[in-house]
Amino acid sequence: MNTKLLPVSPEAIAEAGRIIRAGGLVGFPTETVYGLGANALNGGAVRLIFEAKGRPGDNPLITHVASEAEIPPLIRGDISPMARALMDAFWPGPMTLIFPKSGAIPPEVSAGLDTVGIRMPSHPAAQALIRAAGVPIAAPSANRSGRPSPTTAQHVMDDMNGRIPLILDGGPCAVGVESTVIDVTGPVPRVLRPGGVTPEMIAAAAGAVEVDGAVMRPLQEGEKPRSPGMKYRHYAPVGSLVIFEGRAEAVASEICARYDAAPGSAAILALPGHEPLYGARRVFPLGGADSAESVAAALFAVLRRLDDERVQFIFSEAVDAEGVGLAVMNRLGRAAAFHIEKV
Ligand code: TXA
Ligand code: MG
Repeated sequence: MNTKLLPVSPEAIAEAGRIIRAGGLVGFPTETVYGLGANALNGGAVRLIFEAKGRPGDNPLITHVASEAEIPPLIRGDISPMARALMDAFWPGPMTLIFPKSGAIPPEVSAGLDTVGIRMPSHPAAQALIRAAGVPIAAPSANRSGRPSPTTAQHVMDDMNGRIPLILDGGPCAVGVESTVIDVTGPVPRVLRPGGVTPEMIAAAAGAVEVDGAVMRPLQEGEKPRSPGMKYRHYAPVGSLVIFEGRAEAVASEICARYDAAPGSAAILALPGHEPLYGARRVFPLGGADSAESVAAALFAVLRRLDDERVQFIFSEAVDAEGVGLAVMNRLGRAAAFHIEKV
């Protein structure tokens, strides 16, 4: 299959909408990461997503809508005041809410669970695509399973060339990490995957928040994850990755020692401004500014570069796990199989 890469335009959106309606797949930009979309109401179309990604069949997909009016037919029961408060505060935006699902959601989307994740993205091209398709769009991140999520159209091309008919290019994603997944089926919102909407923001809007224990540690033997995605490593770099936590100077001197002793090609992931601590060693800066937002926006592109350059030993500074930093440390921690050393 020949994969077309088109800049976002009214004509390209119309073509993408036709492909989705006809049961095909489209790569498209959102404010978090690029998605790989199909008609969420068509189980056969959704199966193509799993094939194109090589995704395990027991990992459910998020259903994307452009307006609230599309939601009631997709869920079972009423929207609780707590869910309503989160929707009013953070939609459209980088937040997915888990509701009990209705019969309209095919089992391929929910992977056999009785719940469904719903997200209303804010990216204008994502909004326009959902409207053009005229159906809710099921979309995981548009990477091949096991690769970092794509934050540019070229990343999608690198993973999906020949597997899908069309990729819409809307430039780099602003947030850079996937949406915050929040279970709203209980009395208190529960973060299953941290993202751009932080626990602090959720507590401010809904009065309370819980963060699932599996966010910052590996699943224990026999533990059943609340979100099936938690049990997959998601992304394991080609090289070994170790994260160091502590004061900047102590971390830098430990990283320098380990880098110098590495028996193969090595690289350092450091916060912007920390490069001088590493002398002439090979440093990949985590973003353009020393903020968790900037690190989040840069993270997946940096991880892809490390793989492209076949770096064998990767030593990374930790980021404060506050605000969006929690999402950064969740993704980085999982890429390192939670190999985090305190210095
Ligand atoms: O930002 C995002 O969320 C992006 C863009 C494209 O919207 N999508 C995305 O989808 O990251 P994906 O499939 O790569 O990750 C979805 C995560 C998985 O960890 C999955 O297990 C979890 O959400 N999930 C989906 N439906 C769920 C459900 N009903 N209950 C619990 N977890 C669910
Ligand atoms: Mg994904």
